[in-house]
Amino acid sequence: MGDGEHPHETITAWLRRGVLPVRYMYTGSGAALHIGFAEQYSDEYADGRCAHETDVLTRGLGRARLPAQVCDIGSSNGVHTHQFLTWFARQHRGPARYLGVDLSRELLAAARERNRPHTAVEQHFATWDMESTAPAPVDSWREPGPVLVCLFGNTLGNVEDPARVLRNLFRGARPGDTLALGLYGPPRPDHQDAAAYGSPAVREMITGPLTAAGLPPHSLALRLETTAEAVVGTVRLTAPVSLPGARLPAGHEIRCFLSRRFHPSAAHRLLHDTGWLLRPPPAAPTDGHFVLLAERLPSPSE
Ligand SMILES: C[S@@+](CC[C@H](N)C(=O)[O-])C[C@H]1O[C@@H](n2cnc3c(N)ncnc32)[C@H](O)[C@@H]1O
Repeated sequence: MGDGEHPHETITAWLRRGVLPVRYMYTGSGAALHIGFAEQYSDEYADGRCAHETDVLTRGLGRARLPAQVCDIGSSNGVHTHQFLTWFARQHRGPARYLGVDLSRELLAAARERNRPHTAVEQHFATWDMESTAPAPVDSWREPGPVLVCLFGNTLGNVEDPARVLRNLFRGARPGDTLALGLYGPPRPDHQDAAAYGSPAVREMITGPLTAAGLPPHSLALRLETTAEAVVGTVRLTAPVSLPGARLPAGHEIRCFLSRRFHPSAAHRLLHDTGWLLRPPPAAPTDGHFVLLAERLPSPSE
C-alpha cells in the first residue's frame, strides 16, 4: 500500500501486531475491487435490507418527522445509496439533501456517478475516517433542521471500536438528530454466516490489503470462521515474509477481516453508553438483520 493515505510504517505496524482493520479493504486498490464487485454482482445488493431500513424509518418517524437531510456514513460504491435515495426522494415534497461520507475518495466518486439520476435530492460527498479523531463533516454541510444519520450495512460491525465510532457520530450530530443503525444479529444455529464471504471475489477483497502491502499471494492461507459474536477472517503465512521494517515468520497470523454480530440488547447498551436514546420501534431481526433508531441527546455542556 503506502499509497499516501496510509504510510507503509502504519500498515507494517498493524501486520506485526497481527491485525489489519477492515477499513483498509476499502482504500487503494480495494476501492476498485468494490466498484467492480458492484458491477459484476449487482444481485448481492438486492437482499431486502433497504426495505427493512425504510420500513423501520416509516414506522419510527413517519413522513412528518423524517428529516429532509440525510447523512449516509459509509456510502461505498453507491448501490445501496441508490436504493435508499429512491425511497427518500419520494418522502419529501420540498427540498431534500444528502451527504455521502466515506473513507475512500474513489468510492465516493463512484457513488456520486451512480446517484446522478436522483435530481430531486441535492447531493454532497465528503471523505472522513469515522474511526479517527477528525471532526465529522456534518456540521459544515447541514442546514437548519434535524439530520438523519445512517450507518447501514453492519458497517459498525467492521470497525475496531464500535463505541468510539458511535461517540464520534454523537459529536458530529446535534441534539434532536436521529441515528439509523443497520446491524447483523447473532449467528443463527442453522446458518453458516462465514459461508457468505467464501466466494473467490470476496476472498480477493479480504486479502487485497495484504497483497497491496507486499505479502505474496501464494504465502497467504485465509481461514473464515463464524464465532459466537463475529465472522472473522484470519490469514496464516505459509512462508516467512520480509517487508521494509518487518520480518514476519511462517505461521504468523493476521486477523484481516471482522464482521461483528450484535445481539439487540447489546446494541441497545452500546447506544445508551455513547449518548444515544433508543427510540421505537423495537428491534425485530429479519433474516439476521435489524435496524435501530436512536435520538441524539444533548451532552451535559449543551
Ligand atoms: C459494509 S460497506 C456498507 C455500504 C453501504 N452503506 C451499505 O449499507 O450497503 C462499509 C463502507 O464503510 C466505509 N468505511 C469503512 N470503515 C470506515 C471508516 N473508518 N470511516 C469511514 N468510512 C468507512 C467503507 O469504505 C465502505 O464503503
